[in-house]
Amino acid sequence: MSAKIIDGKAFAATVREKVAGHVSRLREVHGIVPGLAVVLVGDDPASEVYVRNKGKQTLEVGMNSYEHKLPEDTPEADLLALVARLNADPAVHGILVQLPLPDHIDEEKVINSVTPSKDVDGFHILNVGLLATGQKAMVPCTPLGCLMMLRDHHGSLSGLNAVVVGRSNIVGKPMAQLLLRDSCTVTIAHSRTKDLAEVCRGADILVAAVGRAQMIPGDWVKPGATVIDVGINRIPAPEKGEGKSRLVGDVDFDSAVQVAGAITPVPGGVGPMTIACLLANTITACCRAHDLPEPSGLTA
Ligand code: GUN
Repeated sequence: MSAKIIDGKAFAATVREKVAGHVSRLREVHGIVPGLAVVLVGDDPASEVYVRNKGKQTLEVGMNSYEHKLPEDTPEADLLALVARLNADPAVHGILVQLPLPDHIDEEKVINSVTPSKDVDGFHILNVGLLATGQKAMVPCTPLGCLMMLRDHHGSLSGLNAVVVGRSNIVGKPMAQLLLRDSCTVTIAHSRTKDLAEVCRGADILVAAVGRAQMIPGDWVKPGATVIDVGINRIPAPEKGEGKSRLVGDVDFDSAVQVAGAITPVPGGVGPMTIACLLANTITACCRAHDLPEPSGLTA
């Protein structure tokens, strides 16, 4: 039997629609236009594509988008000064500094210079702590998107065995915290985990966020499990022609789809949800800044 394909592209479109509804209400009822500032340092082509898409989608839902592009050799002090200006600007409700930053800049210092209430990435140490202790936090976008899809598919996650493969600060750790908050029994596995295959086979929910192309085969998947594939890896695709490539996840989709109950594809699964959740976080930050009720269904 073949798994249900969880369509992240369609789901992201419904999230953006909800966000656009909240933007209209904020504008018409309260005279507030939510604003998202994105800062890009240097000219990394992948980051430029992300930032362009973020800006485009921000405008499409009716928010203000503020883009700041700084040269690769920008001194750390100049970047910190820009973040300080954005922190103080009441028109800016969300701030995102695109990562990775150039080597001469201390990434942690910059992340922790963003006012926690405007930290729509959820990377600030205060938000990490708030999430870990079950308090009101800004939640990292990719795990938030995964959680939304899981809740939509399962309803309640209570009591399910969840295995998160990957322990990054951006995905693995916050994902585990969110699943724990929804009363899953959570295991964080990683490259040093003993008998990773057996650990994965115990998962009702398997989240793959390791960044290694197709490393999880179908026979590591429990029959009927829900598989969320966060990986985006480019591999050669000679079948498409010489020098061509294609995107694949951390899960071997073709074998896993035969065993799983539901699975996210790559591309078109988790990826589109990340920017949609960034917009959702900006609405959340805006509502909190103005002491308005938070949008339901857009937060963790
Ligand atoms: N670079 C790749 N993904 C992300 C993200 O989610 N946030 C930021 N700030 N930078 C990134």
